[in-house]
Amino acid sequence: MRLFVSGGAGFIGSNFVRRMLAKHDDVEIVCFDKLTYAGNLDNLKPVEDHPRYRFVRGDICDAAAVHEAVRGVDAIVNFAAETHVDRSIAEPETFLYTDIIGTHTLLEAVREQGIGRMVQVSTDEVYGSIDTGSFCETDRLSPSSPYSASKAGGDLQALAYHTTYGAPVMITRGSNTYGPYQYPEKLIPLFVTNALEGKQLPLYGDGMNVRDWLHVDDHCDGIEAVLMNGEPGEVYNVGGGNERTNREITSIILDELDLSESVITWVEDRPGHDRRYSISCAKLRGIGWDTIVDFEQGLRATIRWYRDNEPWWHKIKHGEGEFARWQKRWYDDRS
Ligand code: NAD
Ligand code: DAU
Repeated sequence: MRLFVSGGAGFIGSNFVRRMLAKHDDVEIVCFDKLTYAGNLDNLKPVEDHPRYRFVRGDICDAAAVHEAVRGVDAIVNFAAETHVDRSIAEPETFLYTDIIGTHTLLEAVREQGIGRMVQVSTDEVYGSIDTGSFCETDRLSPSSPYSASKAGGDLQALAYHTTYGAPVMITRGSNTYGPYQYPEKLIPLFVTNALEGKQLPLYGDGMNVRDWLHVDDHCDGIEAVLMNGEPGEVYNVGGGNERTNREITSIILDELDLSESVITWVEDRPGHDRRYSISCAKLRGIGWDTIVDFEQGLRATIRWYRDNEPWWHKIKHGEGEFARWQKRWYDDRS
């Protein structure tokens, strides 16, 4: 199977590329990525010379580049997106381009080139917050942030292309994902690397917002199950079943690194901050998927990965890149 993986240099996409090449002898991958601040070829170093892997730098909003790169592939898996909620609050415009127009560009390529399957990788955030119970795939979309609204726009384009043109597209809606190689602007890698550097851990609001944590391997296996066995036009939730408050996540990090609570700084809440995410994953289990990673073991192993791979994150946080500008802008704007 020849796969076109867009956004494959990011956190989940690079895990998917490495994992699919390791699991299958008959999978060839074209990894297509713009290499924004979040795209990182270091994430793909383990496979850069692999005979069944090729990297193409390009933008999913660039129709000519997409049409050229997808020629001859059997399927598209689209991870490419602007993904950080805080950035979407401060700088929303690029989210609309990549997450909506970029998705549209890929759908057009599927339609015009008759590509056999496409998986649009989406998020549980499109449903919005839920106080009790869990969302299933037919629940209405109620996104709160410019990020989740843009992702919902991509989802609706995908479903419309299936209804109108019969495009063979499926959607996955994953929950909060953790694991190695996650850009250190997100809660877990930010807190772990700050703790390792002797810095404060900035908890938003009262720290009681709940996220459902999913190991990146389990997320990738869910996407693979949908790619292989999903029904075109259908949506599949992918959740870890590990609902924890941010306060609880912080406690595990402090415990693993043997630090006290004095490193927590309580900061102003994120505007529009969703209180709780929860999704039902019965539909995905029905096509042969389940989680395999125990949450506490997976989180502690992830913390140790950041401790043992300091050069990977040090280059991002203290190199030429975007990290320092972003952190300054986010906290300056709100002070
Ligand atoms: P990430 O920010 O780590 O990586 C995004 C990748 O997309 C980067 O490599 C970036 O260079 C690339 N990219 C961005 N704009 C592009 C463009 N216009 N053209 C081509 N490439 C572009 O993201 P992630 O956390 O790995 O998330 C991957 C996907 O999974 C996203 O669609 C996201 O919405 C979804 N998702 C993420 C999570 C999570 O917790 N991280 C959970 C559920 C769903
Ligand atoms: O639910 C899936 C989504 O999970 C994905 O679609 C997004 O791409 C991904 O970024 C993630 O969104 P969140 O907003 O939930 O992730 P983030 O890591 O930014 O924040 C997790 C929680 O931690 C959230 O309640 C906000 C809080 N937080 C975050 C940061 C960065 C803090 O308290 N302090 C922080 O500094």
